[in-house]
Amino acid sequence: MTRSYPNRCILALETTCDETAAAIVDEQFKVLGEVVASQDRLHEKYHGVVPEIAARAHLEQILPVIDTALRRAGVTLRDLSGIAVAYTPGLAGSLMIGLTAAKALAVALRLPLLGVNHLHAHIYACKIATGQQIFPCVGMVVSGGHSSIYVCRGAVNFELLGGTIDDAAGEAFDKVAHLLGLPFPGGPFLARLAEEGDPQRFAFPRPFIHEPDRLQFSFSGLKTAVRYTLERIREKGELPSQLVRDVAASFQAAVIDCLVAKAVRAVQMTRLPRLCVGGGVAANRRLRAALNADAEQGGYELIIAPPKLCTDNAVMGGIAIEKLVVGQFDDLSLDIQPGLVRV
Ligand code: KG4
Ligand code: ZN
Repeated sequence: MTRSYPNRCILALETTCDETAAAIVDEQFKVLGEVVASQDRLHEKYHGVVPEIAARAHLEQILPVIDTALRRAGVTLRDLSGIAVAYTPGLAGSLMIGLTAAKALAVALRLPLLGVNHLHAHIYACKIATGQQIFPCVGMVVSGGHSSIYVCRGAVNFELLGGTIDDAAGEAFDKVAHLLGLPFPGGPFLARLAEEGDPQRFAFPRPFIHEPDRLQFSFSGLKTAVRYTLERIREKGELPSQLVRDVAASFQAAVIDCLVAKAVRAVQMTRLPRLCVGGGVAANRRLRAALNADAEQGGYELIIAPPKLCTDNAVMGGIAIEKLVVGQFDDLSLDIQPGLVRV
């Protein structure tokens, strides 16, 4: 049964990569209903996201996902006060499906259209999860497509400080996981394997770690170092399973050292009181522990999005509530911006 909802609420759509997601979030950031339809199984055999397949799957999923989110929230389209959609960055075909659906709903229902930057939303998940004020903060997004550090002064005021010059952290996790024969997306599988490995067994490179003022990451050389190490071991015969675990643990430790070093440095450089972290890789248990240890030592507040809100979801699109309340609406000229944020 549906009821009329007293608070203003928005429908947020997320189709930047390979998750079709919708959420209904009210102006107090209460999540009334949400759905995430994953396409992992469609892309598994290619060991990566195939853009054409992703776009077609979004097209099939978007309306059922919206329907289910509304049903779960117990609201109807008439209860909505705005339509939010992630329009940047991401895969062009994927973004296009979400934006087109959002525009159609906004026109048909005569509602404001609210464009969302997917990376800003990953950081904003920290606010939605805790209900706590997060600005000003240093924000770090570590996901499959991005590893970026921002100064976040407000919901619509993000300044990019640095990012990866090649692969993103999650991309490196997935590629190394593939080298280790793990399923896609390999990040969580690799993390599990690493739990039983020795992180000090292999001294993999930690690029830029001795250049404190350079807020950049580079993970592609690390991935290649893992590849050569595996090839060297395999030349001697079968890969012993303990060695695989040690490679996983040593790789993970190298990524974590780089991420933590740059995040901590950004807090020191900006003198901001808190660090907010989101994106799929932020679900990593060891990374969370390392960030926590440094925050305690450094005396700043740390908020990491809960694991469920780290990977792609539409709840984080609740950042658009901030635009709704100040009347900062987008019009139908809003276009997709697939471009990677790089420095
Ligand atoms: O944020 P997300 O869902 O998608 C993008 O916006 O890219 O992040 C997905 C990425 C994948 O690369 C996945 O392997 C990685 O996050 N990931 C993890 C873990 N859980 C997800 N990486 C390391 N450890 C994890 N526990
Ligand atoms: Zn994401």
